Amino acid sequence: MVQANKLATLGQVTAGVAHEINQPLATIMTLAQNNIRMGEDNSDLKEQNLNNIVKMCGRISTITGELRSFSRKSRGTIEKVSVAEVIDSSILLMKYRVKANKVKLIIETIAPNVFVMAEKVRFEQIIVNLLQNAVEACEKVEKPCVRIRFNEMDDFFEIRVSDNGTGIPPEVRANLFLPFNTTKPKGLGLGLVISSEIAREFGGKLELEDNSAETCFCLKLVRAVEA
Ligand SMILES: Nc1ncnc2c1ncn2[C@@H]1O[C@H](COP(=O)(O)OP(=O)(O)OP(=O)(O)O)[C@@H](O)[C@H]1O
Ligand SMILES: [Mg+2]
Repeated sequence: MVQANKLATLGQVTAGVAHEINQPLATIMTLAQNNIRMGEDNSDLKEQNLNNIVKMCGRISTITGELRSFSRKSRGTIEKVSVAEVIDSSILLMKYRVKANKVKLIIETIAPNVFVMAEKVRFEQIIVNLLQNAVEACEKVEKPCVRIRFNEMDDFFEIRVSDNGTGIPPEVRANLFLPFNTTKPKGLGLGLVISSEIAREFGGKLELEDNSAETCFCLKLVRAVEA
């Protein structure tokens, strides 16, 4: 089921990622055509173009690499993982959808040396699921806004993903973490079940926060000692 949710998610993010790749690709094409047109002249400019091409290729390979590692079956080893790294790569996968829906994404800053016990790809899967729900929930609001906040505790680390969207109807709320509970025409109703299952496997948990004006999910993971 974890893989089913991941493949469905992948299907949804791929269209966005394809756009994300198209942009540097178009730039590479233009730069390369310029170089051809210049023939023997302007070697400085040509070198600059080539450097930019290399940079753009690097960007594309980061994106495709991220997609590949996300689609791979994870090894299942729970180890020390950097929260900042996972947040960054999840956002890379979600960036286009966020932009396309004109969602304001506000992410609290976090030090790169904050670690939790998790497994990178499945941790990403949770964040992508939460972000997807959040973005989908604020599709029809006037000023869509999604926030990611962090809270350090003694033994745990909390990551909150909230949105100012439609909120969760009471009948959905009652069965929120049960499979196939969905209000979306194309939804599988697996995102939250899988995410909370993964969180439990990491020794943490995923909960809906009730005391918040926005819709807010709190992912609580075990802190890993720095070393
Ligand atoms: N941030 C949110 N705001 C409003 N409703 C939400 C939010 N997150 C989840 N829900 C509700 O909970 C339901 C279940 O969410 P879940 O992610 O498990 O499945 P889904 O999004 O419907 O499908 P998928 O399997 O593609 O994720 C959603 O259909 C939606 O009604
Ligand atoms: Mg979902």
